Amino acid sequence: MTTLDFLLLSSAVSTAWGYGWVAGQAGVDSSLLREARYANHKRQNSCPFNPDHKGAAPYSDTYPYTGAKNGLPGSQKGGIKVPADGDTAHAYTPPGANDIRGPCPGLNAAANHNFLSHDGITNFNELVDAQQNVYNVGYDLAVLLAVLGIQADGDVVTTKLSIGCDATSRTALLPLLGSQPGLNGHNKFEGDTSLTRTDYFLNDGDNYSFNGSLFAEMKSYADSVSGGKFDLNALAAYRSRRYDDSVQTNPNFFFGPLSLLLFGAASFLYELFPSYGNAGTPDLATMKSFFGAVEDSSAPGGWRHVPEKIPENWFSRVAPYTNSDVTREILAMYLQYPKLFGGNIGTNNFNGLSTPFGIIRDGTLPTEATASDVFCLLYQLGTSAVPSSLSVVTDITAALLNFSVGKLNPLFQNQGCALKPDQTQ
Ligand code: HEM
Ligand SMILES: *[C@@H]1O[C@H](CO)[C@@H](O)[C@H](O)[C@H]1NC(C)=O
Ligand SMILES: *[C@@H]1O[C@H](CO)[C@@H](O)[C@H](O)[C@H]1NC(C)=O
Ligand SMILES: *[C@@H]1O[C@H](CO)[C@@H](O)[C@H](O)[C@H]1NC(C)=O
Repeated sequence: MTTLDFLLLSSAVSTAWGYGWVAGQAGVDSSLLREARYANHKRQNSCPFNPDHKGAAPYSDTYPYTGAKNGLPGSQKGGIKVPADGDTAHAYTPPGANDIRGPCPGLNAAANHNFLSHDGITNFNELVDAQQNVYNVGYDLAVLLAVLGIQADGDVVTTKLSIGCDATSRTALLPLLGSQPGLNGHNKFEGDTSLTRTDYFLNDGDNYSFNGSLFAEMKSYADSVSGGKFDLNALAAYRSRRYDDSVQTNPNFFFGPLSLLLFGAASFLYELFPSYGNAGTPDLATMKSFFGAVEDSSAPGGWRHVPEKIPENWFSRVAPYTNSDVTREILAMYLQYPKLFGGNIGTNNFNGLSTPFGIIRDGTLPTEATASDVFCLLYQLGTSAVPSSLSVVTDITAALLNFSVGKLNPLFQNQGCALKPDQTQ
């Protein structure tokens, strides 16, 4: 048995779901945590299976996009029409009943255009290539997101990841040894207070699915704050509202350091989704297409869900969206409405995170935090056990973290962050 097998096995036999930090706090009713685990397991039985796994459609010399291939950097030059005229391999193809889709509209849309495997079982190289070729995400951010996704919810040996439900039998080398919940796995990468997804506990342990009422609410913030634009100010105000709602209604609300990524994801609405990226307009038509939202007065909130689609005549942003760009937006959005990191122990009974993590102290990101502090915090999120998922991540520290350190160190070198050593041998 290799060290990795052993580590995976230990994780499978110990209490492997998240909530490690909350469970350890005084006064926590851990029966709620058991229920969460139960609900999560129940859900996993119904993950669709498509026997016909085709990889992402290959990039041809005629339609190279940024030229990103095999998990390597492309040209970092965007302003490209996606899909290119004539590139039928990447035409919109809605998912079938056996295809997996999940909480991320950016990845769902990419899969619906065959930039990722159409069945929703993808891998590191596909993720890194597609983010660059479709959205002109910078190579550094593309790698960071792929590492975080695979580390939290996929398999570091095969680098495979389900973009939705648990498909361990298809992502793991040794499926019996541990469960890889896919991107729907709660509180590792997928969190509470999403823009358009209901909090996990409020929906019977299940829902990465689009919620029309939340889409309507987000739109009302775009309308009232920014004249219909889904921009920084509108999303900062809406995210603040989502947090306050969760504190008041979700007894198991958890907002850990990884939740900072949700501010990053919110910035994608105005930095990556508009045609020509941040030079374009983050308007309703664009959001409808990427979120798969259709007006329908008979649907909840007045919005029905259809498969996510790249808008017609759409061009990727011109300059790459890099780690330092997303860092700047995360900080700007957080600081408009600073919130405590921590969790609810019962409805409206919020306890701040007492364990320091990176620059987070006493449950807050200090107002004097700088963009480079947040930049290094992103590295730490990728390479350390994070309080939101203690029991999961610490059980398999060596293998998981070594994967991330190996991928991230080259990208964070000489940027002023303290790097962790690679474990060679
Ligand atoms: C490997 C790359 C990526 C991974 C693993 C990933 C994963 C995720 C996950 C797990 C969520 C759910 C978080 C939550 O709300 O709890 C999410 C949300 C989101 N992602 Fe991604 N993502 C990736 C890249 C992208 C890209 C390139 C875009 C845009 C072009 C994007 C756009 C979004 C948006 C807008 C949300 C928020 C959805 C909502 O809250 O309703 N993502 N992503
Ligand atoms: C999520 O919730 C919605 C509304 O209750 C439901 O229609 C959908 O089937 C749920 N998603 C899954 C995967 O069960
Ligand atoms: C959708 O979100 C609204 C507002 O938070 C909530 O009342 C409703 O229960 C959610 N619906 C589902 C199916 O989760
Ligand atoms: C850690 O990752 C490096 C590649 O970055 C690899 O050479 C090394 O063998 C790995 N060590 C362990 C213990 O897995």
